[in-house]
Amino acid sequence: MDTSDDAGVYQLNDEIALVQTVDFFTPIVDDPFAFGQIAVVNALSDVYAMGGTPLTGMNLVAFPIKTLSPSILKEILLGGLSKMKEAGVALVGGHSIEDPEIKYGLAVTGLIHPKKILTNANAKVGDKLVLTKALGTGIIATALKGQMASEEAVRKIIESMVTLNRAASEWMIKFGAHACTDITGFSFLGHALEMAAASQVGLVIQSEAIPVFPEVLEYAKIGLVPGGAHSNRQFFSCKVEAHSNVPELLLDILYDPQTSGGLLISLSPNEAEKLVAVLKEEGHVYSSIVGEVVEEHPKKIQLL
Ligand code: CO
Ligand code: CO
Ligand code: CO
Repeated sequence: MDTSDDAGVYQLNDEIALVQTVDFFTPIVDDPFAFGQIAVVNALSDVYAMGGTPLTGMNLVAFPIKTLSPSILKEILLGGLSKMKEAGVALVGGHSIEDPEIKYGLAVTGLIHPKKILTNANAKVGDKLVLTKALGTGIIATALKGQMASEEAVRKIIESMVTLNRAASEWMIKFGAHACTDITGFSFLGHALEMAAASQVGLVIQSEAIPVFPEVLEYAKIGLVPGGAHSNRQFFSCKVEAHSNVPELLLDILYDPQTSGGLLISLSPNEAEKLVAVLKEEGHVYSSIVGEVVEEHPKKIQLL
């Protein structure tokens, strides 16, 4: 917990450790099936970020059963189940309560080799940083709530949020990644700073290389930025030195809380190129090298 790692690990013997995590939240899209998928993909992500293999899941459900049709709940659960199946995860139980606000998520148990745990604490000077998904889900979800998001933008973020981080996880292990975390509520810069702090290194981020969903800048321009982005900015900006060329609107995106975001992976430069190439080939089109690990300004980020 000292280094804000993604999941908890409990060693069983020399070869096997349990990796455990839990995540749930309120709907961020209107389609209940897609919401179920997103919630499960997001919950599994913390296991993938550590290089583990998720095995079982337990549903966490809060639902206003007196005022909403049970068919909506069924769609949410079916969406979740579809992603558990895709991930090879067995649903072994769960718990539900009545609640005025819908909430859904998953408690996950997986396995990991105790000597092959990827944390955010081992980024090495000279490494490149790979980000596997685009940023802006919080801003587009905010636009959606205000009924100002285009169908295309919503389709793009759903497509991304329902994409498992499994392929990225498996490939990063093959390419000998040094450190990893997933990008979620604390935003790209928040989670990147956690990695910098845990690894006692500095990060240089190339803002032009950051993959961003289409239309995010337009929504940010008219102020459709979630409150979480402002809190993230307040909390983290003292450790981010942004060059004056970096557009203000891009900062909103870099502090935007993400749901079911991609992995941020630190690995040697050659391997980083290969990782991006193979992920792009497999359809993870936003995968990009976004920066590097440096000795200077430890625990801080320089944004160019
Ligand atoms: Co995480
Ligand atoms: Co989490
Ligand atoms: Co129970």
